[in-house]
Amino acid sequence: MSTTSMTKETTPQTTDAVVTARGLTLRFGGLVCLNDVDLTLNRGEILAVIGPNGAGKTSLFNSLTGVYVPQEGRITLSADGGEQNLLGRKPHVVNRLGVARTFQNIRLFGALTALENVKIAAETRQKSGPVGIMLGMPWARRNERASDRRSHELLDFVGMADKLNELAASLSYGDQRRLEIARALATDPQVLLLDEPAAGTNPTEKLELAELIKHINRELGISVLLIEHDMRLVMSVADRVTVLNFGKVIASGTPAEVQHNPAVVEAYLGASDEEAVPGEEDK
Ligand SMILES: Nc1ncnc2c1ncn2[C@@H]1O[C@H](COP(=O)(O)OP(=O)(O)O)[C@@H](O)[C@H]1O
Ligand SMILES: [Mg+2]
Repeated sequence: MSTTSMTKETTPQTTDAVVTARGLTLRFGGLVCLNDVDLTLNRGEILAVIGPNGAGKTSLFNSLTGVYVPQEGRITLSADGGEQNLLGRKPHVVNRLGVARTFQNIRLFGALTALENVKIAAETRQKSGPVGIMLGMPWARRNERASDRRSHELLDFVGMADKLNELAASLSYGDQRRLEIARALATDPQVLLLDEPAAGTNPTEKLELAELIKHINRELGISVLLIEHDMRLVMSVADRVTVLNFGKVIASGTPAEVQHNPAVVEAYLGASDEEAVPGEEDK
């Protein structure tokens, strides 16, 4: 891919991009929620998106996954099937093309078990519809066994093999977050978007989550876009960081570069007390 806007990047583009967003502007009435946002997720990397509350991070994820449609800009996915435009595609289409996500506010089927939650997602990858299942067609049964096996594997992968049959609503917050990740993985993504996966979890769960994100990235080869407030977690897992403030990208670079960027420090000092300056609290 070659575009003139690529030259704006602070980091040289030696690696290839899996998701490229250029000039994204999203407005709600008079409110400019995203303002000319450029973002590049390189294949195989973990890119963190940070910024104060209300900066537009979730809106950016919503724009990348078809929930919101920015009025301006473009979003390209370079995946198996070549280059795909993502702007204006429906969320289920974006997911089928290889982009999965979790939500800031957990969205699980609380009355279903952990296993059932993952199986539902695994089955979206399969061709067999309800009619085939109802008629007990052999291929429908095979698919059912395959999604069952896959769901067991994924729950094992996220460390929940012993909680298969627990109702999602009865799981701890940390387990619900991990279950959401397993469910996203069940759709077989090339790109995974995690919106504050550590929110509401305890320090031990945060450490486990950091390990899990690295495993997903390294063992499954999935490119990860991570929104996270916990700077220790960000600094320990991210290859690069992009910083949003009032809907604009104010910095992009390695965690160390971003941490010492005056504009970033300023943005965080101007934010509420609960949001520490990146990296301050653990140094
Ligand atoms: N559907 C919407 N309608 C109107 N305003 C919205 C909508 N979604 C987000 N916003 C506004 O966009 C801004 C950014 O929100 P958000 O993306 O949730 O920020 P962050 O995730 O960084 O905390 C906020 O001012 C929010 O109120
Ligand atoms: Mg948010």
